[in-house]
Amino acid sequence: MKALSDAFHKNDERIAFVPTMGNLHPGHMQLVEKAETLAPKTVVSIFVNPLQFGKNEDLDSYPRTMEHDQHLLELASVDVLFAPTRNEIYPDENTSKEVIEFPGLSDVLCGASRPGHFSGVAVVVKHLFEMIKPDVAIFGEKDYQQVLVIKKLVEEYQLPVEIVTVPTQREIDGLAMSSRNGYLTEQQRQTAPLLYKVLCHAREQVKAGLVPFAEIEQQANEQLDKAGFKPDYFLIRHSDDLSEPNESETRLIVLTAAFLGETRLIDNILI
Ligand code: PAJ
Repeated sequence: MKALSDAFHKNDERIAFVPTMGNLHPGHMQLVEKAETLAPKTVVSIFVNPLQFGKNEDLDSYPRTMEHDQHLLELASVDVLFAPTRNEIYPDENTSKEVIEFPGLSDVLCGASRPGHFSGVAVVVKHLFEMIKPDVAIFGEKDYQQVLVIKKLVEEYQLPVEIVTVPTQREIDGLAMSSRNGYLTEQQRQTAPLLYKVLCHAREQVKAGLVPFAEIEQQANEQLDKAGFKPDYFLIRHSDDLSEPNESETRLIVLTAAFLGETRLIDNILI
């Protein structure tokens, strides 16, 4: 990978990079399409990163569909599929013990419910950037908090990479596409689109000037609860840094995470 990257750069060819954990769906492929408009060379990585999974999370059962993914990337004319082994990314104990935290950002919302998750994401993305040396990297807004963590990582470590984001790709019924949707039973799959509907409703309430925000959040939690979700959080936050906004703020985002059975779904909507 390093040799390929050097060769591309020697030829003055910019590299656009899409990091993934595989099990590719149209949401991922939207990022790949964007990458292809941004640089002559595209690299996609597939690595199910153990560092970002908690002890009782789905690392072992996470869907691995390498042949299918490879086929999709070939059809999309991606230049390089980088699928490293665990040892190639974390050659020794020290590399897998690295911690990158951004207090106030990586320890709230998903970071509060999944301690260490965003450190794992930041560590692996930093390694991948160092190996691939991309000029630009593309991330999905579905993982909004992840985007903010990556932007912070780039700023703090002065990494020479531009970060570009792509809007959330949805199923026809509004459910955000995700590799984890495959865990849902048929009945849960019927319920799942409500998450987006409740987000949309909250956005309309905010736009209509309904306050306090806490009231909107509570209503949403109750609606999700009634439908069989176990909401983890449903919050209206400042879209720049996820801080608690005052009620005259206009740069807002509504973010939610909720369990359907064992499956944790996340989604968000910008206002
Ligand atoms: P993964 O969940 O495979 O997602 C890879 C990229 O695809 C992320 O940037 C994610 O936001 C984007 N994505 C997923 N579903 C999407 C959708 N429905 N619409 C638009 N974009 C979508 O996110 C990760 O992997 C990992 O944390 C990673 C960054 C690869 C680090 O291990």
